[in-house]
Amino acid sequence: MHVNGTNYRTVWMEKSSVFMIEQNLLPFEFKIYESHTCKETCWAIKTMIVRGAGAIGVTAAYAMAQAFMEAGSIDYVEFAKAARAEIEATRPTARNLFYATERVFNAGMLCFENAADEAEKIAQEDVDACKKIGEYGNDLIQDGFHIETHCNAGWLAFTNYGSALSPVYEAARSGKNVFVYADETRPRSQGARLTAWELKNENIPHTIIPDNAGAYLMSLGKIDMMIVGADRIAANGDVANKIGTLEKAIAAKEFGIPFYVAAPTSTFDLQCSDGSKIPIEERNAEEVLYQQGPDRNGIMHEILVCSPDSDALNPAFDVTPAKYISGIITEKGIIKPNANEIATLF
Ligand code: MRU
Repeated sequence: MHVNGTNYRTVWMEKSSVFMIEQNLLPFEFKIYESHTCKETCWAIKTMIVRGAGAIGVTAAYAMAQAFMEAGSIDYVEFAKAARAEIEATRPTARNLFYATERVFNAGMLCFENAADEAEKIAQEDVDACKKIGEYGNDLIQDGFHIETHCNAGWLAFTNYGSALSPVYEAARSGKNVFVYADETRPRSQGARLTAWELKNENIPHTIIPDNAGAYLMSLGKIDMMIVGADRIAANGDVANKIGTLEKAIAAKEFGIPFYVAAPTSTFDLQCSDGSKIPIEERNAEEVLYQQGPDRNGIMHEILVCSPDSDALNPAFDVTPAKYISGIITEKGIIKPNANEIATLF
């Protein structure tokens, strides 16, 4: 996708280095972070230099490939096992991470030179799946639609195109007028910072709304549909996504607004029978208590935005029960969120 007219992927690998767009600096600074080792790549996932289920998955695939390169001819089985454990300990919720490490680990075990090829294959599949999600999702969008989205499930959250935003981009490309309401998505503000930045780069009309404005706008009839991404989808169609998704889904049902989830099949976890089995990451309270950004002169600061001496709770995801979801847009088509239709994908 485009940044100042240049086409970028969110993450890519050259020789033994992994390159990624430094998302913690966006939208104030555009910088590429180079990770030289598997350990550094784990750190990049943990600190959210790269984030979003698909992008985390592809980065984890590259990290696994780096581990096989680093192992060389020493006891590479033990080395790769330890590296896999370290990668899988970075973030617990996005299914794509575990899907990717398993595939690259298995490929490397057969022949360690295969690991990098398998990682590249996963990256290309991620691109292709997101493109297809855009094409299927576009069928749901009418000219003039106002679409609300939560968090960032655009191209920054994948290798390219994105999941929730891919149908929006495809609709715009096919000549439809679309307008996006981007939930700010506290505490890390992926909507206000990343989704808004992406949409600006793609010339999509949009506005940022406070996290608590969605239901009001729905009640006024200002939202035609909602599309969100997913971090993990259980076998029964329950969806884990960024914290705040659940209350939007409940509001959408109340006001009769279609609520769609967009995700590639690499996000589904058939081992999780329902949403209660999905591990939910809890992050540091500091993310709630402090905010970072530039002052009017462009100097970056970190400031306390809460009452001093109070603690904060920071669950990073919630689970939306399948009953609130109108459909799941995948690279294989749009399905209803139930076990029977999910089973047809695999
Ligand atoms: O914590 P993050 O930023 O990695 O969270 C992931 C997300 O961006 C969202 O929940 C998104 O909607 C799904 S990921 C494609």
